[in-house]
Amino acid sequence: MENTVEQIRDEALAELEGVSEVAGIKDLSVKYLGRKGLVSLFLRNISSLPKEERPEAGNNANKVKNLLEKRFEETRVRLESGAADSGSGIDVSLPGRPSSSGVLHPISQINNQITDIFARLGFDIAEGPEVETDYYNFEALNFPKNHPARDMQDTFFISDDIVLRTHTSPLQIRIMEKEHPPIRVIMPGRVYRCDSDLTHTPMFHQVEGLVVDKDVSFSDLKGILTTLVHQIFDEEISLRFRPSFFPFTEPSAEVDILCVICRGKGCRVCSQTGWLEVLGSGMVHPAVFENVDYDTSRISGFAFGMGVERIAMLKYGIDDLRKFFENDFRFLGQF
Ligand code: PHE
Repeated sequence: MENTVEQIRDEALAELEGVSEVAGIKDLSVKYLGRKGLVSLFLRNISSLPKEERPEAGNNANKVKNLLEKRFEETRVRLESGAADSGSGIDVSLPGRPSSSGVLHPISQINNQITDIFARLGFDIAEGPEVETDYYNFEALNFPKNHPARDMQDTFFISDDIVLRTHTSPLQIRIMEKEHPPIRVIMPGRVYRCDSDLTHTPMFHQVEGLVVDKDVSFSDLKGILTTLVHQIFDEEISLRFRPSFFPFTEPSAEVDILCVICRGKGCRVCSQTGWLEVLGSGMVHPAVFENVDYDTSRISGFAFGMGVERIAMLKYGIDDLRKFFENDFRFLGQF
């Protein structure tokens, strides 16, 4: 026999030192422990030794075989778990992958912006239920039963008397029932209408505003809303107050801004009018004050309501409302 089994063992262990990939272990296993491997050959050749030497040689060979099996396995496990070791071909000095941070949803951003503007103007913030009674959503706001104005609001009815609120105006009543003038409050929240297309979704967001005090006039309404629009759009964009109708305000006005796309020339977005409607407003109707037992000879007030999605679309130039609700990160990450 040319090599002693100890020589074979030392060679195998020396080779193992230099192995840096799992594939190398496989090669070594074949070379030493495989059917035609060096250890196996040694074992087979034992029969050619003098009889008295055979037991010890067999014993030693088996020890070497077990030792090599154990070391090969240990090295394989170490290489597999420590794949990021420098020896594995991966450059551990490279910088890590940056993790991207999230952003607020554009609707939340506009909501925050609107509430910040009003907080600076000294307004409180209030919230209320999204499931409302007919009384708060309609009746107390001077929409009598069967009044055609109820038709403007495509209502989700839960029962004859319970609805998903179609606007944030019911909060005007809830606030005035609890508090006494002076009142200066905004009320952001979700509202629901049975409508769905490019510019309507069944759920959307409104911000309601209410100011009640002695001597509140239409010019106060104009002043507050002009400031609001200029701050939201970050420029002194032209706006106009157009006569309108809501059962709970009199007189009522809708506020239009000069079209942000065509600047008044007329385009598809503004239906060739040059103007875009951004909110509804008006002086609180005396019938509404009577419903909350306010003395109309001593106080007056104004209210307004705006659609948050609509403002976000105009501000960011987005043409499909549904994009806000699809939660596509490629869209949301831009804001
Ligand atoms: N609630 C009205 C709407 O949803 C908007 C509005 C609010 C108008 C307050 C006047 C005063 O269309």
